[in-house]
Amino acid sequence: MAKFYVTTPIYYINAVPHIGHAYTTAVADVIARWHRLRGDDVFFLTGLDENSVKTVEAARGKNFKDIQTYADSMAKVWIDTWKSLDISHDDFIRTTQERHHRNVYELFEQIKKRGDIYKGVYEGLYCEGCEAYITEDELVDGKCPLHQKKPKRVKEENYFFKLSKYQDQILEHIEANPDFIQPVARRNEVVSFLKGGLKDVSITRPKLEWGIKTPDDPTQTVWVWFDALCNYLLPRGYWPADIHIIAKDILRFHCIVWPGMLLSGGYKLPKKIFAHGFLTVDGNKISKSLGNVIDPAYLAEKYSADVLRYFLIREVSFGQDGDFSEGSLRTRLNDELADVLGNFVHRVLTFTRDRFGGKVPEGKLDKKLETEVHERVQKIEQLLEELKVTQALEEIMAIAKRGNEYFQSCKPWEAIKSEPEKAASCILNCANLVKVLCVVLTPFIPSTSTNLAKQLGVKVNSWKQAREFDIKPGHLIGEPSVIFTKVKANNPAQTHQNLVSIDDFGKLDIRIGRVKSAQKIPNSKKLLKLEVEVGEELRTLVAGIAEHYPPEELVGKFIAVVVNLEPAKLMGITSQGMLLAAEDEKGISLLVADKPIKLGSKVR
Ligand code: MSP
Repeated sequence: MAKFYVTTPIYYINAVPHIGHAYTTAVADVIARWHRLRGDDVFFLTGLDENSVKTVEAARGKNFKDIQTYADSMAKVWIDTWKSLDISHDDFIRTTQERHHRNVYELFEQIKKRGDIYKGVYEGLYCEGCEAYITEDELVDGKCPLHQKKPKRVKEENYFFKLSKYQDQILEHIEANPDFIQPVARRNEVVSFLKGGLKDVSITRPKLEWGIKTPDDPTQTVWVWFDALCNYLLPRGYWPADIHIIAKDILRFHCIVWPGMLLSGGYKLPKKIFAHGFLTVDGNKISKSLGNVIDPAYLAEKYSADVLRYFLIREVSFGQDGDFSEGSLRTRLNDELADVLGNFVHRVLTFTRDRFGGKVPEGKLDKKLETEVHERVQKIEQLLEELKVTQALEEIMAIAKRGNEYFQSCKPWEAIKSEPEKAASCILNCANLVKVLCVVLTPFIPSTSTNLAKQLGVKVNSWKQAREFDIKPGHLIGEPSVIFTKVKANNPAQTHQNLVSIDDFGKLDIRIGRVKSAQKIPNSKKLLKLEVEVGEELRTLVAGIAEHYPPEELVGKFIAVVVNLEPAKLMGITSQGMLLAAEDEKGISLLVADKPIKLGSKVR
């Protein structure tokens, strides 16, 4: 069994996952699943970069006293998101874990032993978004072009890594291994940067309260990028990685700093680094301030993990920039998954059930069709080998399209009356096409493939199954069911029956209040007692959110309170209003003001 090790970046936990993170992770998952199906011994690693200053700021912003508690709550969100997208990682690394610290110390010590670490003073600009120093000439209008933030001017004592010493070795490696950095445009970018000359990098920062302390010098913290890159060393038996999948934003860290660290430490270099493009949403950069951060778990729940996975991989040509819009997702679902793939397999399976009693009929295999499909499967293998996941999926859909044409041209519903052998042969060949589709779709839309395999009465456990037409006459199929249902655009105004007038809505007096204190109510599992500052007033609220929010997490939040609700007594306490929250089957989410606003402000 060949070993195959694939990674995603480890993501920052200052925010929840968005569609961009989902994209990288979904592609890595397709590659991992493809290699597993081929019989490789796969290790797929993803995880979280928790030791960043951003983590501390986010935890403070959300009123967490304990940063680790915040990190744990975010880890849960990320892990749950990947679960909802059917991501099949073999391990999930968090940089606050002890097992990771060991790898950081080890590489640090090895680099030090090599004589590549020295103490110095850095004076210049620091971009908090990049978590890295930045030079004047990299700025656009005085700001970091990636994060649109003005960098900070700092002067600090650090330990430096002699990255410049490895400039030529990295360049030689790139030149000797044309596939090391892909796509070629990214490779060229790295080469020209290297040719411009490398500076040493600072690998520690002074006076940070969070992060891994530098070995032998607790006054310094290991630079978050040095720390984070070491995550990839986790499964030692699998190193060097076959492929690091990243986006273009973190190209230099992976293609220059990381190889430099590894060469100095005496480790092998990863075999390949693929930097894909950036996704926008409806044409705009994904950003909290634009309010267009889409939760991939929400999309997976609304449309299914497979629809989202299919869309991401099909829509964005791997390596290029791309755009996400719910409208285009619906179009791909309706026009491709439902109309082409779903339609073909459903017609074949229901025809088999209705006309042949669920048994694949005796007929003649169409050798021409078999060869054609076999060639397509070989092409798909080749494309996947070259990481051309988008084109591979296009080829797969071309098989489904071919299937529809084949079925349509044989017209088995007519042939069954006049030429029953023709109808039988058509179904025998089409059943084989459905099987091929089940296999080749497995890495992309795993849950649908499993469902389809069950409907066809086969088990998919090897990619090789895609190379043969081995469904024989007499094969019994399972019960057919629709695999993709078309959806219409949302139109909330039409779907709501109980409309209220604006005057009715105006009867509610909803105000912004700040939670001053929160405590559990003795003998109640569900209730919390809150004291909320609403304008000049201090109101007592009894809220049924104890199972969803620890009281300390609520203090300081700017919540929405209905203040003209009749008071009600609960567990002996009078509640003078009601806070607003949304609820789904996973839990409760409080409605909060997105930035501080005068207490008592009216919500309308
Ligand atoms: N923590 C570092 C990575 C350390 S790896 C040793 C980091 N984290 S991040 O949360 O900012 O994630 C960056 C990565 O997320 C990108 O390289 C890419 O994989 C993914 N994406 C984030 N936004 C994206 C888009 N808008 N589009 C596509 N991918 C995006 O950098």
